Amino acid sequence: MRAVDLIQKKRDGGELSSQEIDWLISGYVDGSVPDYQMSAFAMAVYFKGMSMRETRDLTMAMVATGEQIDLSAISGIKTDKHSTGGVGDKVTLILAPLVASFGVPVAKMSGRGLGHTGGTLDKLESIKGFQIERSQEDFIKQVQEIGVSIIGQSDKLVKADKMLYALRDVTATVDIIPLIASSVMSKKIAAGADAILLDVTVGDGAFMKTVEDAEKLSQTMVALGKEVGRKTVAVITNMSQPLGQAIGNRLEVLEALQIMQGQGRQDITDFICELAQIMLRLANVDKTLEDIHQNLVGGAALAKFEEMIAAQGGDLEDLYRPSSAAVITCIKAQKDGYITELPALEFGLIAMRLGAGRAVKTDSLDYESGIVFEKKVGDAVSKGDLVAKIYSHEILDKKVHTDFQKNVKIGRVQAENSEIVKIIS
Ligand code: URA
Repeated sequence: MRAVDLIQKKRDGGELSSQEIDWLISGYVDGSVPDYQMSAFAMAVYFKGMSMRETRDLTMAMVATGEQIDLSAISGIKTDKHSTGGVGDKVTLILAPLVASFGVPVAKMSGRGLGHTGGTLDKLESIKGFQIERSQEDFIKQVQEIGVSIIGQSDKLVKADKMLYALRDVTATVDIIPLIASSVMSKKIAAGADAILLDVTVGDGAFMKTVEDAEKLSQTMVALGKEVGRKTVAVITNMSQPLGQAIGNRLEVLEALQIMQGQGRQDITDFICELAQIMLRLANVDKTLEDIHQNLVGGAALAKFEEMIAAQGGDLEDLYRPSSAAVITCIKAQKDGYITELPALEFGLIAMRLGAGRAVKTDSLDYESGIVFEKKVGDAVSKGDLVAKIYSHEILDKKVHTDFQKNVKIGRVQAENSEIVKIIS
């Protein structure tokens, strides 16, 4: 076989066989297919797409390029959760211990943030001492003992995804359904959980800009999961505004703690209860939203979270420490009305420029900086009301201030707002 023939076949709209896909992916990982041919192939897929059969073969070819974790030593239905990326998305920090507080094991490998989107690992690393690198044995032992662990993805899993994602990132081939679906599902399949909740974000701050595309991506991923015997549900969630109140690593940990102490906003608190109900059902545990709310705000989720932080070396005193950002800039409403838009992408980029995110993979982070919104879409405001606080280490550049203010849209009509758009199972 020759890579050039496979690129040409896909470029001309053909369907690759399972053997051709296997050959291409294993050749890419062993170095016999160079980056430039793989980029051309990714671009051909971008324009011509892939059938469901090709997407499944690609996913399984990618899984085969690394180890697969065996979680069978942990009793019960092991659950996992994945988000396709968001701004202010601290859901995993709360959902994982909440689900574990019902005795359902959560074995989760998470990633880092890039660009305007944040990553769970970065948020956890803002806690002094917290270790995200654990051996497989320690990971499994921790889930056996306390029911939950969140660690960084092992380098030994899905080698093809690491290489291909880096290539897609610099060749404008990230946002295409078969490549996203195979990237996400190869990692989830290799990570070994029996049941997977997929949070597929849609809107300005997400890869999927329309509900229609989010539905297609969800259906593809759910079908891939089911084909390999994993119970899989996708929830399409709104990422047109940042999720919850905080963007930024330490600030998001603090918001997660507030939610687990019953002091979070009602919208994100209710959203997390709904996600937990779906994840628990995947593990055959039926709980009412009231039961779940009780565990979330009544201390059970927080106790499990603290247990996880301590088990992974995190300092429980540092966990509750406020952000040490030296400068807090208040953004006020410029007129009376309702908040109609808070574009997630714009605020994600502002937070990134403050140091809360990475423009490129090698950037280091300022864990303390970021944004806390006091008002969200749908909230009424009077001129002069506090809309947001910006946390930074230096006095804010005038441009950041102006950009921020410009993106807080206030109008006369109260916008409807709902976090869950659709559930695909
Ligand atoms: N998240 C992933 O893990 N892979 C993608 O391709 C996009 C989002």
